[in-house]
Order: sequence, then structure tokens, then C-alpha cells
Amino acid sequence: LTIELIFLVCIGTSSTGKVCKEHSPCNGTEIYTYQSCSSEDANQAFHAAAASQVMWAKTPLWKRAEYLKQAAIILRSHQDEIANSLMNEIAKNRKNAISEVVRTADLIEYVAEEGMRLSGKLMYPDSFPGQKRNQLCLIHRVPLGVVLCIPPFNYPVNLCASKVAPALMMGNSVVIKTPSHGVISCLYLAAAFHLAGIPRGVVNVLTGKGSEIGDYLVTHPLVNAISLTGGTHTGLSVSKKAGMIPLQMELGGKDAAIVVCDADLQQSISSIASGAFSYNGQRCTAVKIVYVVKQVADALVDGLKEQVEKLSVGSPQDNADITPVVHHSSADYIEKLVQDAIQKGAKQVTPFKRKDNLIWPTILDHVDKNMRVAWEEPFGPLLPIVRVDSEVQAIEMVNKSPMGLQASIFSRNMENAMFLADFLKTGTIHLNGQPARGPDHFPFQGWKDSGIGSQGVLYSLEAMSKIKSIVIHFA
Ligand code: G3P
Repeated sequence: LTIELIFLVCIGTSSTGKVCKEHSPCNGTEIYTYQSCSSEDANQAFHAAAASQVMWAKTPLWKRAEYLKQAAIILRSHQDEIANSLMNEIAKNRKNAISEVVRTADLIEYVAEEGMRLSGKLMYPDSFPGQKRNQLCLIHRVPLGVVLCIPPFNYPVNLCASKVAPALMMGNSVVIKTPSHGVISCLYLAAAFHLAGIPRGVVNVLTGKGSEIGDYLVTHPLVNAISLTGGTHTGLSVSKKAGMIPLQMELGGKDAAIVVCDADLQQSISSIASGAFSYNGQRCTAVKIVYVVKQVADALVDGLKEQVEKLSVGSPQDNADITPVVHHSSADYIEKLVQDAIQKGAKQVTPFKRKDNLIWPTILDHVDKNMRVAWEEPFGPLLPIVRVDSEVQAIEMVNKSPMGLQASIFSRNMENAMFLADFLKTGTIHLNGQPARGPDHFPFQGWKDSGIGSQGVLYSLEAMSKIKSIVIHFA
């Protein structure tokens, strides 16, 4: 599975001959040149996908499962190569890069297994008032058709597979639009599906800039569904343009950790530190704000400082905990959030320090609602802490956010934690643990501006299909 082979398998020549360049987050050097696909290329991909989908949907389910399992084997056997690409392109550290590939292979296999177990159901009319047993309704799931899959830069392999595998298993063909960072990693995944033997036209890949072809893609008449992970702004814009097709979207998050008086502080500290800083906080599910009741705030802040100061800062190849953020514009944005907060009175628990795209893990205490960082998503190694009078105040603040992905509550009193969880307007609430999408068969959904629909193996299989019923009438 060499780069050359990937290019042969996945990329033709763009009809315009235009290319894009990808730069290293670590030193800014040019690392890859790839095709900048035009609308004509996209049109061809959609036609290929639509033409092959009919035959693919007729391929027996067990056979589609075999193809997926084969792709998982190919991914596993090339995990080091793909992990290298993740390190180069998005500066994910070695441990997390390997884990992304292995997790993806596991996910694809699970999709194949779960997809095999789906079955339809039948209903008679006579359970409804006044009806007789004179019909039989057969209910089953059918593919949507062509699914446009748009994964993000932070998991260009895993969050692409989490869309593509369920779509394929349910009999859809796909067109993948790669992210602008992580292009090659995403191509490795597509190559694995091709090399597994999936027929030509079923998995198609477009590389290029979303700003140039994005609108064309999401409004193309052959697109029957869109599965997207990305920023809230992008998601809102796509949802306005896409028309009446199913959308599955995972967008931004402002996941809060609420720490109440009776929390196990040691557990809270290690979960919050890991939740906030793993992969530099560049995860939708990263802990992006802490609400701590005043009585335990000093102890929590001291513990977080101690823990975060132990994080290593450096290069992905050296497996540093904190590595450069993906783009200098992201680093600039994070820096502006810090400056705004400090100007308005926030205190630096660990000092802000930056060298190009590398930002040292920063904790800001005494953040308040007038600071941008209390509401915006840094997507970087920056953790704001808000001291609150009560847990009720924390819940009010969380619910004021336009985003509603996940939240955590840290408390030894499970009854109270369950009671509080009931008031939180987020898709998932973790009690005594950090926010996270996985394990990948758990349901994963954002409320409000954080998304549409649910993901997770079974939920994605359902989302990538629609219900069809056949009603037989008896004389
Ligand atoms: O940012 C993407 C989101 O899906 C995070 O996934 O596994 O890091 O919780 P995870």
C-alpha cells in the first residue's frame, strides 16, 4: 500500500490539471501535492457512484460484509504506514495515530457484523382500533443511494470509515470529499476499500478545496444523503443548501466538565486533563470548559496545574503529548482567545507560550461569561475554568451554549449526578468520566448546533438506509 499505489488506485488526473498543496503543521514545509478536483470531476464521480450502486445493492449482504472485513485486514497490516501519514499531515502523535488506524479496522469489522444482524419486521392491522387482520405489512430497510461523505481533518481515517462502512454495508455507493489536512491518510482508507475488491465506482474520492467545490457537491442532484463531520458553521451552511435529503452531521462542541463539592478530585483532575489536552484539544469531544463550585476550585486548579505541567510538548514522531495544531490560522485564533480572556481578567494557571503552530497547554482560571473563550471552541490546548456558586449555575451556563454535544459531571453522589444530567441539553452526559465518542458502537449525537442525527455503528447503519414497507391485502 505505497503512496504511489494509492495515487494509482484513487486519483485520476483532475480535468483542469490544477493541484493543491498540503503543508506540514510542524514546520510549514510542503509535504504533498494533490489534485484539485473540479466540478466536472465531481460530476463524473457522482455518475460512477450512481451507476454502480444498483449492482452493489444487489450484492449479497454476506459478500458486502466480506469486502469490509478484508478492508479492515488491509488497514491493520499497514498501520505503521498510515500512522506515519497521520503524523506528517495532522501532527497526531504516534500512539494516537496507531490507535486511530486500529480503532478504524475494529469499527469496520463491527459494522460488517452488526449489518449482518439487521432484519425487518412485519405488522398486522388489527392492533389498531377498529381494524381487522386483513393485511400484512412487511417492513425492511433499503439503501439511500449515493452518499456524500465529508470527514474532518482530526480523524481523516476513522471518521471517514465511520461514514463509509455503514453506507456500504447498507448497499449505498459513496463519494468521499477528503479534508484539506489529512488528504493522504484519507486516501489510504479509500485505497484499502479498493484493494479489498469493492467494485469500481462504489467508492469514489474527490480531493480539493471545499471552498471551491463544496457547494457543487452538496447540491448535486445525484447526492441522496450527506454525512459530514466538521465545524458548526460549515454544517449550518450545508444544511441550508442541501435540500430534502437525509443529513447526518457531527459538528462543533463546547463540552463542559462540571465538578461539584463531593467529586473525587483526583479522578476529576485526570479525566479533565486527558479530556482537554489529548490530541491538543482538537476533538469535538474535548473538554472545552470547566465549571467548578467555589469550595473545591482551588484544589482542582492546583491538581490540574500539576498534571498538565507533566505533559510533554514536541513532535508527533517523538510521541509528545502536545504537538503543533493543524494550521497557523488555528494557532492565531487560539492566541486571540487567550489575549481576550487575559485582558478581561482571566488568570494564567499555566502560561500561554507559542512557537509557530506549537502551543503549550494553557489553563486559564477565573474565566467569566464576558470572555470569548467561555463560549467559543478553541480546538486547541486551551482550558478555561469558570468558578461557580452552585451546580445549578453551571447547568444554566452549559445550557446557554448554542452547542450541545456532550458534558461531564463529576460527583460521588450518583443519584444527584443523574438528577443534574436530566437538566443538561446535550446529546450525551458522562458521569465521572471525560466526554468521548467511543467506544464506536455507542450512540453519538449532538443537540442544537452540534449536529443532526445519531452515529455509532447501529445508529449509522440505520441512518444510511430508509424504511420501505410492502402491504399485502387479503380478500
Ligand atoms: O472530533 C471528532 C469527534 O468525533 C471526537 O471523537 O473519539 O476523540 O471522542 P473522539
